[in-house]
Amino acid sequence: MATPAWPFPECDVTVESGRLPADGVRRMFDRIAPVYDAMNRVMTAGLDQRWRRATVRQTVQPGDRVLDACCGTGDLGIAARAAGAGHVVGVDFSERMLERARRKAPELEWLQSDVLTLPFEDASFDSAVVGFGVRNVEDLEAAIRELRRVLRAGGRLGILEITTPRGFLAPFYKLWFDRVVPLLGRLLPGGAAYTYLPASVRRFPGPEDLADLLGRCGFEGVEFRLFAGGIVALHGGEAGAA
Ligand SMILES: C[S@@+](CC[C@H](N)C(=O)[O-])C[C@H]1O[C@@H](n2cnc3c(N)ncnc32)[C@H](O)[C@@H]1O
Repeated sequence: MATPAWPFPECDVTVESGRLPADGVRRMFDRIAPVYDAMNRVMTAGLDQRWRRATVRQTVQPGDRVLDACCGTGDLGIAARAAGAGHVVGVDFSERMLERARRKAPELEWLQSDVLTLPFEDASFDSAVVGFGVRNVEDLEAAIRELRRVLRAGGRLGILEITTPRGFLAPFYKLWFDRVVPLLGRLLPGGAAYTYLPASVRRFPGPEDLADLLGRCGFEGVEFRLFAGGIVALHGGEAGAA
């Protein structure tokens, strides 16, 4: 069947609502792969790499076998390796994003797969990290259960995700994310992705709800902390006994 043309005329309502079918998400990231890293640096004023390092510090122990799920261009996996991970496997369903990861760190393992059906045995990893990825999956609970499955009991999960701030930063955030980011996106290939981005954050569970969900999916000691005045949340938890 022919691939429908961008911006997915069969589902462009969902670009606005922050919901896309998995194939739409995959094609969206294939398309923005060339500008993805640069846009991250611009949108976060360079803070995104600091948040990734904090995620790794909280989640990964030296020597761990680490899964970077929804790895994209690989920055979290690369940070895990720099922090002493023993073996890093990055998984993403966008081949164009993976190509960038492979170019940046050919020594790590990068696999094309859907995070909902990971090609690993139960308990294959000591730790797993997900950066700005879970917000995009069609079935969030299924994704978290799948991450639990591939972690050994006692293994750690770290989820870094954009969230909606409630404090004094809320009006600034609204202006930046709802107006400036989509505008910047219009100048770029695959720019509709930057309309989808704020919309997908709006419909994503808040930090407390995500923590509850992690608990229901078999994670213990779940905690979260907020960065940059509550714009980004880092959740952590330990895989309970299966
Ligand atoms: C916003 S990017 C994040 C990339 C990277 N983790 C980072 O820290 O920048 C989200 C990535 O998740 C991937 N993704 C979304 N849904 C997925 C799924 N169901 N299975 C595998 N990858 C998925 C996309 O292809 C994209 O590369």
